[in-house]
Amino acid sequence: MRILLVSLKGGVGKTTTAVHLAGALAAKGKTLLVDADPAQGALEWATRGTGLPFDVVLPEDAKPKKYDFVIVDTRAQPKGKTLDEFTRKADLLICPTSPSALALETMPRLQAELEDLPYKALITLTPPPPSKDAARASQRLIDMEFPRFKTIMRRYAALEKAAIAGCLVSEIRDPRAMQAWADIQALTKEVLKK
Ligand SMILES: Nc1ncnc2c1ncn2[C@@H]1O[C@H](COP(=O)(O)OP(=O)(O)OP(=O)(O)O)[C@@H](O)[C@H]1O
Ligand SMILES: [Mg+2]
Repeated sequence: MRILLVSLKGGVGKTTTAVHLAGALAAKGKTLLVDADPAQGALEWATRGTGLPFDVVLPEDAKPKKYDFVIVDTRAQPKGKTLDEFTRKADLLICPTSPSALALETMPRLQAELEDLPYKALITLTPPPPSKDAARASQRLIDMEFPRFKTIMRRYAALEKAAIAGCLVSEIRDPRAMQAWADIQALTKEVLKK
């Protein structure tokens, strides 16, 4: 299964989601994370820590046929034109968006570019209740008829700690780390249902 993370807006949680989805899928099969962002955020994540349960490589070093799951993290594409070879070959395109208006406003343009490819929005970085941001973002996506995951990736400091430590959030000592990991598990379940 090939899964690509894509967004027009930067900083919406592509790399965080890519690393953790790869971490969860690694329990199900051999998993490769391809870092197709020239900023190499995923590769640096892997280098900072010791031993993520999957391989992380640059596109030129990727041997995808050897893996059950291939996740591709991409750079934000403010000008669009995301449809390269990787995109066309993906079984699933995950389109993260934060609940901010600036991020949500880019989604119709992304949708127009992705045309008939198998894509789904993932709402990320939502504050805890009583904030209504998650519900509002969901409604916005419904209004634009943008398919979406039911799972919402809530905002947890533990996820930033994981990025700094170069590990998965499941290894972070933080009261909320397991809640963040539960979001990932729920997303993984939805991804595998496809
Ligand atoms: N669910 C979350 N909870 C808390 N912090 C998060 C969450 N998701 C992402 N972040 C933080 O938000 C910032 C941006 O996330 P990330 O790097 O994953 O986004 P991105 O879409 O890959 O960005 P870029 O477009 O720059 O590659 C990072 O500091 C990350 O740690
Ligand atoms: Mg990134």
